[in-house]
Amino acid sequence: MGDTLLAVKNLKKYFPVRGGLFRRDIGSIKAVDDIDLTVEEGQSFGLVGESGSGKTTVGKTILRLVEPTEGEILFEGRDLCKLSESEMRHLRAEMQMIFQDPYSSLNPRMTVKRIVGEPLLIHKWGKGRALEERVRELISLVGLMEDHLFRYPHEFSGGQRQRIGIARALAVEPKMLILDEPTSALDVSVQAQVLDLLLELQKRLNLTYLFISHDLAVIRYICDRVALMYMGKVLEVAAVEDIFQNPMHPYTQALLSAMPVADPEYQPEEIILEGEISTLGGQEGACRFGPRCPARDTARCGKEEPMLQEVEDGHLVACHLYD
Ligand SMILES: Nc1ncnc2c1ncn2[C@@H]1O[C@H](COP(=O)(O)OP(=O)(O)O)[C@@H](O)[C@H]1O
Ligand code: SF4
Ligand SMILES: [Mg+2]
Repeated sequence: MGDTLLAVKNLKKYFPVRGGLFRRDIGSIKAVDDIDLTVEEGQSFGLVGESGSGKTTVGKTILRLVEPTEGEILFEGRDLCKLSESEMRHLRAEMQMIFQDPYSSLNPRMTVKRIVGEPLLIHKWGKGRALEERVRELISLVGLMEDHLFRYPHEFSGGQRQRIGIARALAVEPKMLILDEPTSALDVSVQAQVLDLLLELQKRLNLTYLFISHDLAVIRYICDRVALMYMGKVLEVAAVEDIFQNPMHPYTQALLSAMPVADPEYQPEEIILEGEISTLGGQEGACRFGPRCPARDTARCGKEEPMLQEVEDGHLVACHLYD
């Protein structure tokens, strides 16, 4: 086992819901509801789940782009929640986030040279010749050309724009990248190229990834370990191959049964989940997957929320079937 780079403990993020004539708080959306994650140095850790399960909120609270409601976020042992705004700014050089839609995060009026050079200026990395050389180095690192430097974001394809975003994120030599669906908006063939680039960069620069995706096939391609999120909770954590060979949580089993496989003879029977993911949190003191669970045992599952526990070596599951 490598050293722990990032440890998230009891992380919660509740968003208030206001309503009525006086816009009073009438409840909360439990976007992230008490989760623990441990990411080791050099690892690619996946966070997978349906839309609305809380993945982006986890990424943003780790960087304190939204303030956590509760919990600890330890990066190299330091609790980020205790850092001042200026300490946090320094720390963001070590942990960068990449979003799904690079277009909205690239200033349309800046050339690539300025976009990639900007974090170097902000973090006082250097200027003039040194800065220019660093920008050229980054551009070639992500597979773009020198003559791209003087063009604007709208002149590029989606895949190229994501490469620009990656170059910018890598400018100040972060240890860790939080990648939020970085290829979900791209065509399949382009998606594969960007994923290969990310794998190559990880090896070359010894990067640690927190890789967020709704797509298990992408997670399998990129990640070593994965946590499955559902309605703000983690339901299963394991090495990626363990998840595919031996999915234990009924939710994971359902997701995998819906995935296309190369050999149609071995396609397991698809488990159709009824109902939809709710955003307002589950019933207090019950399994939040209960209303959709084919294996639900009414006596227990409706009365007690299962805790995430280690069921096999390195394989954690939150389900009463394994108590
Ligand atoms: N700023 C916000 N204000 C209120 N609710 C939010 C906010 N951001 C996210 N949410 C809600 O939190 C839940 C989780 O959202 P999100 O983290 O974006 O999920 P995912 O990335 O898995 O799709 C959703 O119900 C979403 O509507
Ligand atoms: S605890 Fe019960 S309802 Fe929840 S996933 Fe397990 S079997 Fe299904
Ligand atoms: Mg998201």
